Amino acid sequence: MSLIKKSRVQNRPIISVIAALGCRGQIGLDGKIPWDSSKDLQRFKWITIGSPVIMGRKTYESIGGPLVGRQNVIITSQQDYNAPMCNIAHNIKEAIEVLAQNSWNKEIFIIGGESIYKEVINYADMLYLTHIPYSGPADTYFPKIVGNWNRVFNEMDKDGSQFEVLWRT
Ligand SMILES: NC(=O)c1ccc[n+]([C@@H]2O[C@H](COP(=O)([O-])OP(=O)(O)OC[C@H]3O[C@@H](n4cnc5c(N)ncnc54)[C@H](OP(=O)(O)O)[C@@H]3O)[C@@H](O)[C@H]2O)c1
Repeated sequence: MSLIKKSRVQNRPIISVIAALGCRGQIGLDGKIPWDSSKDLQRFKWITIGSPVIMGRKTYESIGGPLVGRQNVIITSQQDYNAPMCNIAHNIKEAIEVLAQNSWNKEIFIIGGESIYKEVINYADMLYLTHIPYSGPADTYFPKIVGNWNRVFNEMDKDGSQFEVLWRT
């Protein structure tokens, strides 16, 4: 994205988490995102296009296919899982290590869902978060954010959503 100069840190790609959260950290309901925000989907595409994305098997099935213009890595424990035009991995850290070996990959995006965010939140370098004014039900949530973070970008959308980018200090 143009707002932040992409560069590798310590000779490895930046590990970025991108998510949209409701007022109580809600992210999903019945396998879907429980709101409709075309603005946020556009921003998600603009930020992640050209970079590899890592997602859980349930999120992949919810999307229904690979995200175009991005290398898609699906995490599953199923040895014979088939996802056309995607890479399959059985371990998130290994998936990141393999992607990191490609020096073209300046930034790797972790795009959910809950189980994948939980595993990565403790070592992510950046968080791209959209806070949606949604207070309804959910069955999946974003994990607690711990540690020290600097807000490097912040904007309000017309629909009342807030988008922020945090960098781990
Ligand atoms: N609001 C947002 O920004 C956002 C973004 C993404 C997703 N979502 C929502 O989040 C919900 C899905 O979240 P979720 O937690 O239920 O599912 P998920 O994280 O998308 O996928 C879970 C699956 O990933 C695999 N997996 C996870 N960790 C693994 C590991 N360490 N090793 C091997 N496989 C692993 C397992 O697949 P197998 O069962 O095949 O082994 C597991 O069942 C949906 O409602 C979706 O719409 C919201």
